[in-house]
Amino acid sequence: MTEPLLEAEDLTVQYETDGGMVTAVSDASFVINEGEFFGLAGESGCGKSTTAKSIIGGLDPNGQISSGTIRYRGKEIQDYTEKQFNEELRWKEIAWIPQSAMNSLDPLQTVSEQAVEIGTVHTEMSETELREQLKEMFSIVGLQESRINDYPHQFSGGMQQRAVIALALFLEPSLIIADEPTTALDVIMQDQIFKHLDEIKEKLNTSLLLITHDISVIFESCETVAIMHASQLAEYGSVDAVYANPRHPYAFMFKEAFPDVREPDRDLEVIEGYPPQLGDEIGFCSFVDRCPWATEECREAAPELEPVDDDDPRHVAGCFRKDEAYEMYQSNRLSSQSGDSTTAITSEDD
Ligand SMILES: Nc1ncnc2c1ncn2[C@@H]1O[C@H](COP(=O)(O)OP(=O)(O)O)[C@@H](O)[C@H]1O
Ligand code: SF4
Ligand SMILES: [Mg+2]
Repeated sequence: MTEPLLEAEDLTVQYETDGGMVTAVSDASFVINEGEFFGLAGESGCGKSTTAKSIIGGLDPNGQISSGTIRYRGKEIQDYTEKQFNEELRWKEIAWIPQSAMNSLDPLQTVSEQAVEIGTVHTEMSETELREQLKEMFSIVGLQESRINDYPHQFSGGMQQRAVIALALFLEPSLIIADEPTTALDVIMQDQIFKHLDEIKEKLNTSLLLITHDISVIFESCETVAIMHASQLAEYGSVDAVYANPRHPYAFMFKEAFPDVREPDRDLEVIEGYPPQLGDEIGFCSFVDRCPWATEECREAAPELEPVDDDDPRHVAGCFRKDEAYEMYQSNRLSSQSGDSTTAITSEDD
């Protein structure tokens, strides 16, 4: 049976700024099970990195978890001191590939020196064993083993990114949080890294929280997906269910905004406008100004995540009109494909 590894419950994260409080994550709840590949998708600025940073205890100094909890193997992450978190969880249990991965290496140390430092704190392995382990990870991410003794500046940007990925995999953590890990990599390298993550998962039952603005990557590589819009979780469920039966207007439009290998010839959706910057209190649907199906009700309260009627018991969507909006969208698309509608929804994606 799959056990929950990481649980976020009603998570709200805010930043204090000169212009007042900014809510980056609002009331988000989700569960990542052991061995599960979980994708978190949404446009730039919707709160994905903030979610990751609150799990790893890496929020910027002006940011804080204002309410809600995050549990790792049943224990509240907020209860760990920084020292305990570093000793017990970081690297060995939870490894983080930050969004600006290329800048996360220490410029003054070779990659192998950094790996030995981390490995010595967190394992009983000898220096020789740690270097061998790093070499193995280097070859997996497509770097020559001999280059473990290079300094970061001796690598190109893409190679530095791969070195960071190798370091994250190196102690075989239970949860890897990868924030836009492959954005700077070419498609072949992306495929290679995902293939390897699949192998690790088979071998070690590793879980992955994959964060990306490109939902097609999640549909190809994850089992579960959560789609965020302007701090709120719009929809969440198995990839199969959300792919086949999306219900939140942002989710179904966003899904259609990316090329899909399964439907290479379809037109790409464009979502008009931009997500709002949200203050302290959010008592409305954050998609309201962009949603073709919005009503007054959507301005008066934030929709709760409600079950979607399909085979996936975890599938939920946070929209007051989730079924009727999807029906209207589908019938509009069908009629525009057959040429008898002039309505098109157009705009730019992330
Ligand atoms: N240190 C910070 N101070 C103030 N606002 C921030 C800070 N970091 C992020 N934000 C804001 O929080 C929101 C979510 O940002 P982020 O989590 O980086 O989104 P994403 O990773 O989805 O692009 C954005 O509106 C962003 O401007
Ligand atoms: S119909 Fe309303 S609740 Fe649903 S996404 Fe649109 S604005 Fe939000
Ligand atoms: Mg980000």
